Amino acid sequence: MAFKKLLTKRMEFSASHRYWNPGWSEERNKEVFGKASGPHGHGHNYTLEITVEGEVDKETGMIINLYQLKVIMKEVLNDFDHKYLNEDNPHFKELIPTTENIAAVMWDIFYEKLGSNPSCKLYRVRLYETDELYVDYRRVEQ
Ligand code: NI
Repeated sequence: MAFKKLLTKRMEFSASHRYWNPGWSEERNKEVFGKASGPHGHGHNYTLEITVEGEVDKETGMIINLYQLKVIMKEVLNDFDHKYLNEDNPHFKELIPTTENIAAVMWDIFYEKLGSNPSCKLYRVRLYETDELYVDYRRVEQ
């Protein structure tokens, strides 16, 4: 019998954003994005969940060193927490910082940061924009 072992760590951050497609007219932006297109942006308290998949190390009993994971997450969130994502985070210079796109950017960053350990890989990024809305970005088995 085979078991999939997943570990999830959750962390919160606050950021603001604006939904705006520069290739569209103001009217079209307002029509599609509504209030979220407002010129001054608006904020959310996001919750990020990073899930890793791996083997439980026989010596530590862990999939990943929790202290290291915490340090990595804090380091990554420095570029997101209390930022106006559209202007302060270079990933969103040409990418609308929707929950979907933020999750995708997070995936790339964490995949690279965790990638050096073959026995523990990034499995899923889950990003809550509110209690009622979240996005899952995850690897699928080929
Ligand atoms: Ni929003």
